[in-house]
Amino acid sequence: MSRFESKYGYFDEAAREYVITSPHTPRPWVNVICPGDWGVIVSQTGGGYSWRGHASLNAITRWSQDMIRDSWGKYVYVRDDATGEIWSLAWMPVKRNPERYAVRHGLGYSVIESSTMGISSKLTIAVPPGEPLEVWLVELVNEGSVDRELSLFTYFEWCLGVSPDWHREFHRTFIETSVEPEISTIWARKRFWEIPNDKGTPWNRSWEYTAFHASSLDASGFECDKERFLGMYGDLSKPVAVERGYLSNSCGKWTDAIGSIHVRVKIPAGESRQVSFVLGAVEAQHESEARTLISKYRDANEAAAALRRVSQFWSGLLEPYRVQTPDEAFNLMQNTWLPYQAISCRLWGRTGYYQPGGAYGFRDQLQDSQIFLPLDPSQTAKQIKLHAAHQYVDGHVDHWWHPISERGGGGLYSDDLLWLPYVTTGYLKETGDYALLDEGIPYRDGDSESLWMHCIRAIELSLSRRSERGLPLILDGDWNDGMNAVGADRRGESIWVAEFLCTILPDIAHLARLRGDSDLATRYEKECRSLADAVNTYGWSADGGWYIRAVCDDGTPIGDPKCRYGKVFLNPQVWSIISGIATGDRLKSAWRAVVEHLSTDAGPILFAPAYAEPDERIGYLTRYAPGVRENGGRYTHAAAWAIMAAVMVGDSSEAWRMYHRVCPVRCGCSPDVYKVEPYVTPGNVDGPDSRRYREGGWTWYTGSAAWLFRVGSEWLLGIRPEWDGLRVNPCIPANWDEFHVKRKFRNATYEISVRNPRHVSSGVSKMTLDGGEVEGNLLPALGDGKVHVVEVTLG
Ligand code: GLC
Repeated sequence: MSRFESKYGYFDEAAREYVITSPHTPRPWVNVICPGDWGVIVSQTGGGYSWRGHASLNAITRWSQDMIRDSWGKYVYVRDDATGEIWSLAWMPVKRNPERYAVRHGLGYSVIESSTMGISSKLTIAVPPGEPLEVWLVELVNEGSVDRELSLFTYFEWCLGVSPDWHREFHRTFIETSVEPEISTIWARKRFWEIPNDKGTPWNRSWEYTAFHASSLDASGFECDKERFLGMYGDLSKPVAVERGYLSNSCGKWTDAIGSIHVRVKIPAGESRQVSFVLGAVEAQHESEARTLISKYRDANEAAAALRRVSQFWSGLLEPYRVQTPDEAFNLMQNTWLPYQAISCRLWGRTGYYQPGGAYGFRDQLQDSQIFLPLDPSQTAKQIKLHAAHQYVDGHVDHWWHPISERGGGGLYSDDLLWLPYVTTGYLKETGDYALLDEGIPYRDGDSESLWMHCIRAIELSLSRRSERGLPLILDGDWNDGMNAVGADRRGESIWVAEFLCTILPDIAHLARLRGDSDLATRYEKECRSLADAVNTYGWSADGGWYIRAVCDDGTPIGDPKCRYGKVFLNPQVWSIISGIATGDRLKSAWRAVVEHLSTDAGPILFAPAYAEPDERIGYLTRYAPGVRENGGRYTHAAAWAIMAAVMVGDSSEAWRMYHRVCPVRCGCSPDVYKVEPYVTPGNVDGPDSRRYREGGWTWYTGSAAWLFRVGSEWLLGIRPEWDGLRVNPCIPANWDEFHVKRKFRNATYEISVRNPRHVSSGVSKMTLDGGEVEGNLLPALGDGKVHVVEVTLG
């Protein structure tokens, strides 16, 4: 079934694909494919790049960020050897207008289909899980009545290490290519990697991999020299080698290294042919592994088998969680695209088109790993342990670090360390796996200690870093990275961090009590009360009737009506609700401020009005164009929290209004305004102070997908793990008749049907579990590995 069709494409729900029907989307619409190690980004024009393990320390192919031209990719050219006509399987780089064009972005693969000059083609790019390579399966059909003789030429530039290699004249001198015609393979190695060697010497280490590119058909030629392929001052749209129809077999140490394989394909009228290519990289000391992979994939049937494995892998991963609601856009996002974005892109790939990366952000991947809670919580546990190992004995953590080089740093942010206890308590509520707290994990600079102690050290350090007024110091910033000057002199305060702490402390106190440490529990409850008092004493703006956001080193408040810009902020209102700090009239007033000042057609924006000029006391967020990103844009990550708060205050209509304005499927119904992919969340959408109001940016970004998923499942649908069971407390549009959720919880599967005969938004009136009535709305953890049927009635 196809849905939400625009002039650029539609959702094919059954296939779990988004189908792009024109190469001319308003921005590159990409797929980020990474089942754990090898990764590929591919756009609807054929642009993109490949990496292994880390997109900017271990890039395999070259790419240069250019959202307008999207002109760097890995391409396959076609040449009609009878006429000399050339085109490409993707629209780029030849840009011949195909008679038909469709790009299907699926889970773990993309397919580029086109019909050009009587040949219909299908190029499938897939990354088989567990193998360090990508497969390109080409299927060609001769739709005409005469036999055709075609040549295919692959093309990309080798990077082999740190990306971007902007000083290419330096880097290219370390690369060596060679060919092995017997197995139709190009090999590529590099004797240089910026990462320091084991003695700590920089610029004295070889790239530790061997890359390969091979074809299933016997190659008619190879090219590793960019000049020979393109021609001096040549152009990707008409490379001299493709125009003349053969390659020169140049390789070695002296070239600007590319990879191109030429194969000839004869296709009788009405018949079809298949050819596959692989591109991969193995550890240099295990080159025999590459030979095994090459000989496997020289059989084009293996490429087809790999594709089947890809589908099984991704559908198996997402299988434990399924919703069926009357909101088709919601279903598409919950069932497929939010988990896929969070896992493939954010946790495993950690790179995108808008922000090529590869590092771990301490707070980012911890939050992203929440996606696994109902799918495979052991993966959340793995992430928790990885991050705990990037904490120091004094409790502080790396703001980010690079896998492979293990270099880290990035400043002293006041919230980073707190995400460790926050995500840990989320994991424990989901799983009841308290043993994790006793697992020993080493510090960056010291011996092992239990995860519990890692969490306690984070909280203790955070509690110790307070101003005289008892508010947390903001230091180099808090969740909002762009507030990087507020506390440069270590006096600035963060209201939001106080609220975040108050959200965490009751859960940690609960755990302390469970662990028999009631003194600690009592102390944390007391700290929580004093933080809440400090927020209510110093953080409330009586003039505005809302909470301020922070206070600068010089005592100037941020988020107060007295301010010229940034008079009212989203996060302090939202988290005053989430933390329980706001009660009574203040709660109503704080929420009113959100609805009246911040809830826009683009969704809830971070603050208003946007800064129109830089403010040195605040930081770089004031330097962005007004309405863009953290400067008063809609930041999807924080917008998800606003939806959660809307549910908490019981404002179901505002919760769903916000959801609809944030949901990419619906935003994508105005594709020429919104511009970006309708199947994944953007980090940001321009706010009302931007000339590009409602235009999306930075898609496939961190934070937003996992949070929107969690808010959708736990707060809008209201099926939420708590310490003592699974709460069922929906907050739905009153016109819904029913909805269904299948989810795992502590080793049992719950098939939950919620009916709404009185058309209310909330309030469970009856609940049965396997036919027996349950009092209240908390399902017990059954943990028996079985499937349980839950019937819920609202109203
Ligand atoms: C980006 C950062 C994240 C930060 C957010 C707000 O998403 O990766 O860590 O919290 O911006 O500044």
